[in-house]
Amino acid sequence: MKTLLVAGARPNFMKLAPIADALVCYGQEYKIVHTGQHYDDNMSKVFFDDLNIREPDYNLEVGSETHARQTAKIIHKFADVCEREEPDVVIVIGDVNSTLACAVVASKLEGVKLAHVEAGERSFDKTMPEEINRIVTDVLSDYLFCATDKAMNNLINEGCHKNKIYLVGNVAMDSLIYNATKLPLRDGEPYILCTIHRQSNTDDKKNLKNILKALITISEKIKIIFPMHPRTVARIKSFGLTKYLDQIDVIQPLNYLKFIYRMKNASVVLTDSGGIQVETTVLGVPCITLRENTEWGFTLIEGTNRLVGVAIDKIINETFDVLAKPPKSSLSRANRILLDGMASKRIVKILVDENIK
Ligand code: UD1
Repeated sequence: MKTLLVAGARPNFMKLAPIADALVCYGQEYKIVHTGQHYDDNMSKVFFDDLNIREPDYNLEVGSETHARQTAKIIHKFADVCEREEPDVVIVIGDVNSTLACAVVASKLEGVKLAHVEAGERSFDKTMPEEINRIVTDVLSDYLFCATDKAMNNLINEGCHKNKIYLVGNVAMDSLIYNATKLPLRDGEPYILCTIHRQSNTDDKKNLKNILKALITISEKIKIIFPMHPRTVARIKSFGLTKYLDQIDVIQPLNYLKFIYRMKNASVVLTDSGGIQVETTVLGVPCITLRENTEWGFTLIEGTNRLVGVAIDKIINETFDVLAKPPKSSLSRANRILLDGMASKRIVKILVDENIK
């Protein structure tokens, strides 16, 4: 089975690593295609270094563009790779533009099976570009590998054939569990870790200002560390909001190991990321999600995550409330199984057992 393993943006890389390892474990030939959607060293290369991922066999170097142009560029360049490599399987991960673009190419090629890792997650908010990417990729895929039973039900409700759906667990947790045990314990003063990069928060001046104003009040009580995404840096500058950052420890995006160390030892994490909601749940760290919806509903049920939105008072009150009364988390049995660090091996075993050639 000849596999092309696709990744393009930061949230893909920690998921690619365990899948690549599992392919090696099962003696499978694979090539890594990096689309170049994320290209700064601290958004890309540091993850390959930290996670011991080998150099990509292809880098499509598409860079930053509008959604349509970025997607079109990837489609064009990935089609050339497929023509040259003639893969049996293309594995795409998550919900970024690279996922959608490569899924479109693979699904139209005869004899190529498309596998989507992290299938079926839904925020039910089509204003999010990621939601469009998820829906289209799932419709096109031959193998839908789900991280949660909710995701599986979403696909069934959308009319997807049950034979294509596999509940395998969460591949990001394969990386987290493997790496988190190697990290030292906290020293130093307590802090809040903050990450913001969602288009709905960064590209809307009012929302971005609300978040920064709330952070100012919170920073009077507890230190805030903010590894800032390039998109967020750019928007804060262009909206003239830099003055709101005076009391906040703004740093460059962190590499994977440094980030999970910071996350594991934070008093609270404030974020609009999807993956971080799950990672904090597994680590038992309180999380405040600065969004109106989430595709990771089980994190709310497990009790570590709160969906708070972006109203200033709400962010402040919920943060202080969580600091005063940190939630107790013990993962339910069902989720312990799905977050057990074996998802990638399950995925590769299923593909190998299918005898795709
Ligand atoms: C993308 C994903 C999002 C994911 C996020 C994690 C889509 C639709 N969204 O959003 O799901 O959670 O990555 O980071 O694919 N930029 C740089 N250097 C880089 C990468 C980006 O400067 O290495 C800047 C560019 O100005 C670019 C902007 O960030 O225009 C946005 O990058 P893009 O890949 O379009 O989307 P993200 O906001 O990163």
